[in-house]
Amino acid sequence: MSSSTSTFSARLNEAAKLVEANLEALLADNARRGEIARPARLMEAMRHAVLGGGKRLRPFLTIEAARLFGVAGEGPLRAGSAIELLHCYSLVHDDLPSMDDDDMRRGRPTVHKAYDEATAILVGDALQTLAFEVLADPQTDADATVRADLVLGLARASGLGGMVGGQLLDLTAEGRYGAVTMGEAEVRQLQMMKTGAILTFSVEAGAIIGKADAKARRSLAEYGRALGAAFQVADDILDREASAEALGKRTGKDQEKGKATLVDLLGLEGAKRECGLLVEKADAALDQFGDKAQILREAVRFVVEREV
Ligand code: IPE
Ligand code: IPE
Ligand code: MG
Ligand code: MG
Ligand code: MG
Repeated sequence: MSSSTSTFSARLNEAAKLVEANLEALLADNARRGEIARPARLMEAMRHAVLGGGKRLRPFLTIEAARLFGVAGEGPLRAGSAIELLHCYSLVHDDLPSMDDDDMRRGRPTVHKAYDEATAILVGDALQTLAFEVLADPQTDADATVRADLVLGLARASGLGGMVGGQLLDLTAEGRYGAVTMGEAEVRQLQMMKTGAILTFSVEAGAIIGKADAKARRSLAEYGRALGAAFQVADDILDREASAEALGKRTGKDQEKGKATLVDLLGLEGAKRECGLLVEKADAALDQFGDKAQILREAVRFVVEREV
């Protein structure tokens, strides 16, 4: 392991610990201001969905992007945690019997297996609204325009023109709504929607909190798009090559379900080459930040080299 790789893992771990503690506090049993009560079963299932697993890559990106503009502390941590809540909701619903029908996630039974399907649907719903509540809370940022920008960005990234729309296209590509053949451009768009949009927003959130100028924000969004695309190609490669034990989730499922992936269209070698090109693209987008962005350069390498 090179020293920069070990610094990167240390930084990622450090952020993950802070995020874990923040998520635990947000998911405590006691009702908070403005709430009537927190049902015990719902809280338990939400904690099952969120705590004790996951790379916490999205909050890490928010924290590190904000750091580029000299902002650290509670603001980026809370914004990143909100995005992680949204991400966990997307995983709970992605695993549902009517969606990917998966029994394992992060090395544990999925929420609908550990509880039941209705609870899993409600866990996803509650995580989603909690994510927006956290962003809209003045504790996240004293500036109301920053908070509005964060809410707007997450809504767009996670909604019909982003993650949710991408999930619909993903199911369509399986052929469940009629025979379809998707070309490379369509698969790239599907992936940019289902996975790329939230990863891109994770980076942009740091720029919003850091009050970045338009040029810096555009460059970071470009970096986020390259990283997001690389992330899903790597996920698809892992689905083909890794073991379920290593990943903590079922593998080989994309091929089995006839999912449209770039591994399918370009082959494993082609998909790996694609990852290399996306790393270069991400690097180029960071040029204006010089050495300050080293950790983000390492983040995109981590994304394509990861084994989990
Ligand atoms: C998995 O995301 C789902 C996709 C968007 C491909 P991650 O690989 O980030 O999952 P965790 O959060 O680390 O478990
Ligand atoms: C999941 O993509 C994307 C979202 C949850 C939005 P996948 O279905 O490929 O993710 P895994 O492989 O189940 O983690
Ligand atoms: Mg899926
Ligand atoms: Mg899935
Ligand atoms: Mg996958």
